[in-house]
This record gives sequence, structure tokens and C-alpha cells, in this order.
Amino acid sequence: MIDIRVSNCNKSYGSLRVLKDINLEIERGEFIVLLGPSGCGKSTLLHIVAGLDRLSSGEIEIGGRDVTDVEPKDRDIAMVFQSYALYPTMSVRSNMEFGLRMRGKPMSEIRPLVEEKARMLHIDHLLDRRPSQLSGGQRQRVAIGRALVRDPKVFLFDEPLSNLDAKLRASMRTEIKKLHQSLGTTAIYVTHDQLEAMTLATRMVVMKAGEIQQIGKPEEVYHRPVNLFVADFLGNPGMNFMKGHLRLDGGRVSADVGAATLPLDGYAFEVAPVAGQAVVIGLRPESIQPASVQMSDGGAPYALTLKPILTEHTGSDNLVVLAMGEQEIVGKFPSDMLPKLGEPVAIGFDLSRVSVFDAESERRI
Ligand SMILES: Nc1ncnc2c1ncn2[C@@H]1O[C@H](COP(=O)(O)OP(=O)(O)O)[C@@H](O)[C@H]1O
Ligand SMILES: [Mg+2]
Repeated sequence: MIDIRVSNCNKSYGSLRVLKDINLEIERGEFIVLLGPSGCGKSTLLHIVAGLDRLSSGEIEIGGRDVTDVEPKDRDIAMVFQSYALYPTMSVRSNMEFGLRMRGKPMSEIRPLVEEKARMLHIDHLLDRRPSQLSGGQRQRVAIGRALVRDPKVFLFDEPLSNLDAKLRASMRTEIKKLHQSLGTTAIYVTHDQLEAMTLATRMVVMKAGEIQQIGKPEEVYHRPVNLFVADFLGNPGMNFMKGHLRLDGGRVSADVGAATLPLDGYAFEVAPVAGQAVVIGLRPESIQPASVQMSDGGAPYALTLKPILTEHTGSDNLVVLAMGEQEIVGKFPSDMLPKLGEPVAIGFDLSRVSVFDAESERRI
């Protein structure tokens, strides 16, 4: 059942085209994350769904109803902003009650509702404080609480955790995920943080310069990026890119990347490969490990002997920079495996995880 439908949506500010022909269908109960670099149009798209910005052309449906010309307050949505947007002179309780009071709900119903949601968010002991007497994390909880009491059809979040420190972000992220699991309300969540997107999304929408690049489940977008932009935007450290050319020998395809010829027998080409085609081979650091480590498909890895030139401990694993001809690639080794610098080691490439892009179009082939 489609809960939100964005059809042929365009938005311009003067001559600046901020959204270009956006089409998106969101099913009831999905947690959709809009991901992309700053300025790519994520907030604009969210504001258009909320009704805070007007479309230049296109249509928005929520719950089967055309809301393109409907006021924000009549769209049955609740929005949580990065800036919290709390009323500074009101108590936490009044902030949470406000929206319901404006809608004329009786206080006898509002009180228990606010207290229930406050308990859920562990802010029930803060109800009589002012926002200025709260930490950033507590303020964001209040902002979320204010959205929750409304029991809307759709939650919209615009980078709600961006002002919090790393540890608090991680724990709030988990709480938002739990909330969604228990409430099941449709949500659109904007972030430029790929880890937040990977962990929260049921499906993610990767955007660049006002255009949707890819829509899919996080693991699908991570493992099968449709182009170099998406491949590069996800993952930390980022995907390794090796420039080369395709070779076709009989029915077998391989990629000559200078220092090695990588067999691509197991790769499912979406477009027929052409001999000599200039390509970029993408492989994530976790798919480059000591040859002794078993690969994701259980098979033996493709092995090469390479020289480590730099290592970094991250605590959970060791990042190892390896010289591969003219290029450098990064592997992710288990934390108890630290190679010696300058001493060649057998490196396994998990080629079942490879992505192949056309060098010119930058698209997956
Ligand atoms: N009111 C506005 N007037 C003119 N340009 C705007 C306005 N709002 C946003 N923009 C521009 O639209 C683009 C997308 O902005 P935004 O949706 O806020 O991006 P994001 O949320 O992905 O960082 C940016 O180039 C921004 O400068
Ligand atoms: Mg924004």
C-alpha cells in the first residue's frame, strides 16, 4: 500500500534547479532515508512533502490523497528538525502539549498521552523544565516527543542528530530505530551521514545535485551501487577504485588493472562487456584481506602478493594500505593481523564482491 507518492516533482529557485523530476513511492511503514551531500536537495524534498515549500511542478500524495495544494497542518505529518525548534519560554510539557491543544483536543486526553510518550523517551522527569535547562540530546528527545504525541500518518526528520556528539548520535540512532520498530509509522529521514542511512533505512534514496541516483535496500545500494558516485559516497574507508581495461578471451572476461589481471568470471554483467573497454573496478576494503581469511562466498580468494606501505589501527581492525603497481589500495585486516611494512604478503581479493563501472559513463555495467 503506497503511503506517499512523489510524482514528477521539480523545484527551482530562479534559474537554479534544485529538484529534477523526482519520482518516489513509499509504502506504509517504510523508513526511507534521503542521503546525499550537502546542497543536493534533501531538505527541499522533505519540505515539499511537508508542504513547507511549494513545488514548481509535480504532485504529492499522502495516504492516497492529493495534498499538492494542502496546507502543512492538514497533511497529517509531524516533523523533527535539526534545530529542535522548541518554544523557549514554554516548559517541556507545554511544548509537547502545544500541537494537540491547537487542534482542540481536550486536556483530559492530552495529559496522559504526553506523560506516556515522555516515559517512552525517558524525559518524564524533565517535563517541568524549560528547553534552556536541557542538554542537546534531551532537547532532541523533546522534539521527537512532540512529534510522537501527534500520532501522525508520517514522520519527517531533517538531520535530527546532526547537532549531537558522536556517542549520543549513535545511541539516539538506536532509539529512533526502536521507535520505528514499535510504532511502524511511515518515516522519511534526511541525513548526509551514510552510517545513519545504512543502519536506519528500510530503503534509501541516494541523491546528487537534485537527482535521485539510486533507490534500494541499504545492503543492495552498498554492494551493488549503480554508479561511481554512489559507490564512493557509501562506506568508510571508501571503496577502492582500480582503473583498467576489459579482456575477453573466449567466453572469459577479466580486467587488466596494470599490476594484475583480475578474473571476472563470477561477475554478473548488466551490459555486455566489450574487449578493451575502459573500466573502473571497485572493491571495498573489507573484501581485501590476508589470503588466509575465508571469503564471503566461502570460496578461495583470488590471491596476489602485495607490499604494505602503511597501517592504521582502528581498534576493531587494521587498515592496510597496499602498493598495487601505480595504484594504492586499502585492505581491512582482522585486528590480530598486522603485516610488516615493506614485506610482501599474500592478499586475498573477494572478487564475488566486485563492482565494474564503465570509465566514461561511470555507470555500473
Ligand atoms: N529558499 C531558497 N532560495 C534559494 N535557494 C535555495 C533555497 N533553499 C535552498 N536553496 C538551494 O537549494 C539547494 C538544495 O538545498 P537543500 O535542499 O537545503 O539541500 P540539502 O538539504 O541536501 O543540504 C542548495 O543549492 C540551496 O542553496
Ligand atoms: Mg538539509
